[in-house]
Amino acid sequence: LKLQSFTFCLISFCTMAAELSTSINIKEPRWDQGTFVGRAKHFFTVTDPRNILLSNEQLEKARQIILDYKKGVVTPGLTEDELWRAKYVFDSAFHPDTGEKMLLIGRMSAQVPMNMTITGCMMTFYRTTPAVLFWQWINQSFNAIVNYTNRSGDAPITVNQLGTAYVSATTGAVATALGLNALAKHVSPLIGRFVPFAAVAAANCINIPLMRQRELKHGIPVTDENDNRLGESSKAAQQAITQVVVSRILMASPGMAIPPFLMNSLEKKAFLKRFPWMSAPIQVGLVGFCLVFATPLCCALFPQKSSMAVSRLEPELQEKIRACRPGVETVYFNKGL
Ligand SMILES: *[C@@H]1O[C@H](CO)[C@@H](O)[C@H](O)[C@H]1NC(C)=O
Ligand SMILES: *[C@@H]1O[C@H](CO)[C@@H](O)[C@H](O)[C@H]1NC(C)=O
Ligand SMILES: *[C@@H]1O[C@H](CO)[C@@H](O)[C@H](O)[C@H]1NC(C)=O
Ligand SMILES: *[C@@H]1O[C@H](CO)[C@@H](O)[C@H](O)[C@H]1NC(C)=O
Repeated sequence: LKLQSFTFCLISFCTMAAELSTSINIKEPRWDQGTFVGRAKHFFTVTDPRNILLSNEQLEKARQIILDYKKGVVTPGLTEDELWRAKYVFDSAFHPDTGEKMLLIGRMSAQVPMNMTITGCMMTFYRTTPAVLFWQWINQSFNAIVNYTNRSGDAPITVNQLGTAYVSATTGAVATALGLNALAKHVSPLIGRFVPFAAVAAANCINIPLMRQRELKHGIPVTDENDNRLGESSKAAQQAITQVVVSRILMASPGMAIPPFLMNSLEKKAFLKRFPWMSAPIQVGLVGFCLVFATPLCCALFPQKSSMAVSRLEPELQEKIRACRPGVETVYFNKGL
């Protein structure tokens, strides 16, 4: 009997020791966001399209694990890897503020498949005006759904605001695309294929600075490394906006700049001459292949918290910082989206 109870104690001790600690911070990404590799791993996991295939049961199971863990209850036998997997599955489907299940096509995991379909079709059907209108409209409708799905819980946007943004975004996108198409009427077929990419680049260069002109005028808050506010800087705003524009254009480049060359030579081949309807699926596939890598890698390019040397700030702000915080050489700011 003694031996039995000893064995029992040993077993329960072992399972206890193997139980996961409750101190893992699952509110934060799993990997260090201070490094490019850590950010890339994080965004590859967040945008993983396989997550849209998960069944309701699998989502519920992940949700249960995460809700329990947040209360300090560890599901027996859970390993650290399983916990992190559950966290990313949970985040992929449930809204961070409201906890509601999100619309399927508004989720991060749907970004790559949706985006590759839209981008691929936009690049295949760029020649006629109705097709351009249709795909610009589809893209903006998709953006509106993403905006709606991703609305913040504590300051919900009204249907009116969403509607206004939808109409003005669609008008702007259609106007840019039609304008560029008209300009490109007389260029070679190869150059013509880059019109969608040029439209994206032009739209980003115009829209983002326009949307954030307040920040350019009045500056954005800059802090020391411990988040103590040191003042506002327009120079920092310039850098933040430049980084956002560059990463948006870089994100679009692999998917929109490589396929045109391939398609242009493919269309001269017998295969596509015989099966012209194959060009849309091929284009979508090519864009998708590029996006699977480009989306997470470009999200990871610049850290959300960006930094800048004090010597590159406005002279007045430099003086102010040197006077009250002489040791500070670098300031930090949020680059925005
Ligand atoms: C939703 O918003 C979060 C930040 O609030 C952002 O990290 C994420 O990229 C957004 N998702 C989409 C699909 O835009
Ligand atoms: C779709 O719209 C978004 C937002 O306006 C834009 O950033 C993106 O480049 C568009 N996609 C294409 C393929 O033009
Ligand atoms: C989505 O939200 C962004 C930022 O709030 C806005 O600039 C954009 O126009 C919106 N897009 C649509 C299609 O509503
Ligand atoms: C789709 O991907 C492109 C990059 O190819 C990016 O510029 C664009 O913002 C994405 N569109 C949406 C709606 O996420």
